[in-house]
Amino acid sequence: MQKQALVDHYGRSLSYLRISVTDRCNLNCLYCKGQDISPMNFHPAEILSYEEILRLVRIGAGMGITKVRITGGEPLMRKGLCPFLEKLVAIPGILDVSITTNGVKLSDYLKPLKDLGIKRLNISLDSLNRETFEQIAGLDRLHRVYDTIMTALDMGFSPIKINMVALRGINDHEFGDFAQLTMPLPLHIRFIEYMPSSPHMLDKKKQILSPEIKQRLQRRESLIPVLPTNKSAVSETFRYKNAKGDIGFISPVSKHFCKTCNRLRLTADGKLRPCLLSDKFVDIKDAMRNGKDDSFIGEKLKQAAGLKPEYSLTVGNHNVMVPRLMSAIGG
Ligand code: 5AD
Repeated sequence: MQKQALVDHYGRSLSYLRISVTDRCNLNCLYCKGQDISPMNFHPAEILSYEEILRLVRIGAGMGITKVRITGGEPLMRKGLCPFLEKLVAIPGILDVSITTNGVKLSDYLKPLKDLGIKRLNISLDSLNRETFEQIAGLDRLHRVYDTIMTALDMGFSPIKINMVALRGINDHEFGDFAQLTMPLPLHIRFIEYMPSSPHMLDKKKQILSPEIKQRLQRRESLIPVLPTNKSAVSETFRYKNAKGDIGFISPVSKHFCKTCNRLRLTADGKLRPCLLSDKFVDIKDAMRNGKDDSFIGEKLKQAAGLKPEYSLTVGNHNVMVPRLMSAIGG
C-alpha cells in the first residue's frame, strides 16, 4: 500500500475514480435531466482540460487509485477523447479504464477503444422499444444503440454492462425482455433503481425498487445467485439457468452499498465529490490553475477522502435524492 494512500475515516481505501469529462449530452433522459428543462452546461473555461485531469490521475495513482471510469454527461461528446484516453491508460498504476456511455456515438469509437485495450463498457439502454426509447431519451436512437451493442459483442468487448433505469408505467413492462437478452448474449443487464435528482425530478411514483423487479422476473423463471467477483461490486447478481449473460440489481435506494464504497468522483468542472448523495466537495481547479504543486493537489485528494460520509445521509428513509443533476455528476 502506498505511503499516502487514500483511506477515509471509516477505513475504506478509495481506489476508484469516476471522471466526468463533460456535462454535455446528446440525449435528454427523463431520469437524468428531469422534465421540461433545457440544460445549463458549464462554460468551456470552467471545464478541466485533459492535461489537468491527467495530472490529477497521476497524483491519484501515486495514492492508490487503480481504477478509472470515464463518464459524462455523455463522454463521447467531448472532442479529443481518444488521445486523452491513450495518455490515461499509460499512467503507471492505472490498471483498469472503462467508459459509461449512452452508445449513440459509440460505433465510431469501438475500434480506437479496442486498440487502446479498453474492453469494459457500460451502456445506458432503458428500452428495447423504439417509441419508449424516444419517450425516455428524447430522441429516436434505439436502433443505433442496439446495433452498436451487437457490434461491440462481436468485437470482443467484455464485460458489456447494460444500465436500465426502472421506471414504473414507462419501461417496467420490458423487464422480462431485458432479462431474456441474457439467454443468447453474454450481456450483463443491470436494473437500476431510479434516484430522484434535484431540482427537476420525475414523480417519485415512477420509482420501482429492486425487490419488486426481482419478484416480477422470478415469476417467469428462477434467478440463480452469482457470487460477487469483487468486494466493491455494487450490483447483486443473478443468472438464469444456461444463460450466457447475467442480471444485476443496483439498489442505491433500497440497499445502499456504502460499506464497501471505494469511489471518488471528479466533476467536469474540477470538483472532487466523495459521495453521489452528499453535496460536499473539494475544488481542485483553482489549485491546479494557481500553480500549486503535486503534494498540494494530493492534500486535496486526501481532504475529499476525509469528507466521505460513513453512510449517505439519506440511507434508511428511501427518500434518497441526488443533490445535483446527474448529468453534472456522472451517475
Ligand atoms: N437514477 C438512477 N440512475 C441514474 N443514472 C442517471 N441518472 C439516474 C437516476 N436519476 C444512471 C443511468 C446511466 C448512468 C450514467 O447513470 O443508468 O446509465
